[in-house]
Amino acid sequence: ATVQGALAKERRDMRNQQQNADMTAAASTDELQLRWEDPLALQAASTGSMLAPAVGSQIQEIPEWKRQAMGSAPSFGYKRPENATMREQRESLPIYQLREPLLDAVNDNQLLIVIGETGSGKTTQMTQYLYEAGYSKNGRRIGCTQPRRVAAMSVAARVAEERGCQLGTLVGYSIRFDDCTSPETEIKYMTDGMLLREALIDSDLRQYSVIMLDEAHERTISTDVLFGLLKGCVQRRSPHDFKLIVTSATLDAEKFSQYFFSCPIFTIPGRAFPVEVLYSREPESDYLDAALLTVMQIHLLEGPGDILLFLTGQEEIDTAASILFERCKSLGKNSAKIPPLLILPVYSALPSEMQTRIFEPAPRGTRKCVIATNIAEASLTIDGISYVVDPGFAKQKVYNPRLGMDSLIVAPISQASARQRAGRAGRTGPGKCFRLYTESAFTNELLPTNVPELQRSNLSNVVLMLKALGINDLLRFDFMDPPPTQHLISALETLYYLGALDDEGLLTRLGRKMAEFPLEPMLSKLVLASVDLGCSEEALTIVAMVSVDSVFYRPKEKQAQADQRKARFHQPEGDHITLLAVWDAWKASHMSNAWCHENFIQQRALRRAEEIRKQLVTIMDRYKLDLVSCRKNYVVLRKAIVAGYFLHAAKKDPQEGYRTLVENQIVYVHPASSLFHLQPEWLIYHELIQTTKEYMREAMVIDSSWLRDLAPRFFKLADPNQITRRKRKERIEPLFDHKAQNQNDWRLSRRTKPKK
Ligand code: CDP
Ligand code: MG
Repeated sequence: ATVQGALAKERRDMRNQQQNADMTAAASTDELQLRWEDPLALQAASTGSMLAPAVGSQIQEIPEWKRQAMGSAPSFGYKRPENATMREQRESLPIYQLREPLLDAVNDNQLLIVIGETGSGKTTQMTQYLYEAGYSKNGRRIGCTQPRRVAAMSVAARVAEERGCQLGTLVGYSIRFDDCTSPETEIKYMTDGMLLREALIDSDLRQYSVIMLDEAHERTISTDVLFGLLKGCVQRRSPHDFKLIVTSATLDAEKFSQYFFSCPIFTIPGRAFPVEVLYSREPESDYLDAALLTVMQIHLLEGPGDILLFLTGQEEIDTAASILFERCKSLGKNSAKIPPLLILPVYSALPSEMQTRIFEPAPRGTRKCVIATNIAEASLTIDGISYVVDPGFAKQKVYNPRLGMDSLIVAPISQASARQRAGRAGRTGPGKCFRLYTESAFTNELLPTNVPELQRSNLSNVVLMLKALGINDLLRFDFMDPPPTQHLISALETLYYLGALDDEGLLTRLGRKMAEFPLEPMLSKLVLASVDLGCSEEALTIVAMVSVDSVFYRPKEKQAQADQRKARFHQPEGDHITLLAVWDAWKASHMSNAWCHENFIQQRALRRAEEIRKQLVTIMDRYKLDLVSCRKNYVVLRKAIVAGYFLHAAKKDPQEGYRTLVENQIVYVHPASSLFHLQPEWLIYHELIQTTKEYMREAMVIDSSWLRDLAPRFFKLADPNQITRRKRKERIEPLFDHKAQNQNDWRLSRRTKPKK
């Protein structure tokens, strides 16, 4: 079995698990009790098959766990920063020793690369040092980008606390659909995507005196594009007026420096303690199960210290948290002396109260177990972690240029990520990292570093933005690592079909407007089409609703009941209109909490949709776009959706499922869709998700003639004399074939391609 093999199995297992989570939980709890009840069995288990020490360490021979885990007064006594004042905490960070040299280096250089261990204080301290040194004088700001929303918010909150100000005043943050800044804001944290948007308005970013591109090693699309844009900024603005600092956690520093005119590299020496790395002896067939066993093993066997477990996504984390909780509870029944385990899930959709809880020290006598996505790899630093459990997977975006589609898949991490994860155990003291894969898998199967997101993503959004910035020759844009040409071409094509680019590949007026919206191009096209069609009120609601996590809540114990409630909202036109119905009903209930509860609706998702909608309304106002309601005339609304999503049209296949019109690929209506039992002839979908099959999520019934009317650049009526019998029945076909693309000139290929 390989990592890949394990991956396939994992997918199967996760599926079973989702279908049967209750049983799984019960079964594993039993197993655990059997395994752990007898101290000798426990010891055997710990030295047995699962984990083999890599570097000559021993797992304790004396069941120390007995004293520690079951002893009368378990001592989990760290010197916790809770006793220290905020100032003491700040001054205890490694970066504090280097405050002056760092400020000198910034002063002397327009461009500076800063590297340092995670947790050394780069993100929270450097902005403050710059502020204290007067960089935000004269109404200029100090900006700091983060690849992730949660990091931007939590770091801003932390810095506001350190400065003793209210968030949104001196210190603020700005993320998509949530701007928490004011004219007073001098230190501004934001996602890299937001800074990119700001560059659209002012490509010189004049409101900033310093930009810190933080976590640059993450190589998100936005950071990569900002690299190129900010390089230009640096050249245009004077060294006294504008500084660029790029921080990174890893070895990329030399490469970064070379790219940025060979600028100096400032290193903050780490204060990392040794971390002992242990590998699985055999490949794990089920990483989730192995991970949970390992956590329990650590909890019962190992000395004090909190645990950090890396999993891939929200659902997995919630499942893991609930199984762990049950296990601890049932263990607790057998022996009251097992210290409590405080289980804290961390992922980006987490409400902010929960997010702050993860940074708080666990109560005395309690061990903390943080279960996190990749976000805890570098963006967030949680003190007190001594044990890291690393199954070796993360959700990663992959792009299929042929389908023009991104999908999130669970894939093996890179060696660099694995090292970074292990390092999280050595911040407060020596630690251990349990890798749930073999040493040979680490060496032979994991890639050395992560593939930049730009090279594995749908680029239509970025290309639209670059075009809006006046950068037309994309092939010559100064990318640190250019994306594959084919990806650029397919992005250009998509934008052309949507009407955002003209025959010359230049931005159209529609395209310019589309670029104003912080949305994927297909969604912004939908919004703009809705203005013309007179249904923008409803369209904004739908855009907001498809932009949030599912609004339907389906607890394991009450699935049937939840499904019944959901079915009441179902509309014959499909899921988009169903979402609209949910929204309307929620509004009619005066956004009542009780109503949500009764109807198995996620209040939080709706609240977020509301925020998004508000932001979109602001943008509509700014560009004087009309807000009009179609009342109940859903035909125009559906047409607006088709105007954005015609590339996602699918037709019922006589054999099974549906065929996509563009790629002729077999896809299925998702069982949760309101159209699952209706199976109409033609539909469009919002996105494809791949689980057991390729499923269409949010599907809507359409009339095939709308395709031709609303996407004349893409569909034409088939010539009745030249088409097959099947085609004659449909009488519509895509204008040209993606597969037969000439890579060098997309415009040429579009014109010269023979018709089918
Ligand atoms: O950016 P870097 O990884 O170098 O460190 P940082 O994020 O500035 O974190 C410095 C310290 O602040 C760490 O010890 C964190 O635990 C602490 N911190 C915190 O307590 N709460 C936050 N929301 C962020 C950081
Ligand atoms: Mg940081």
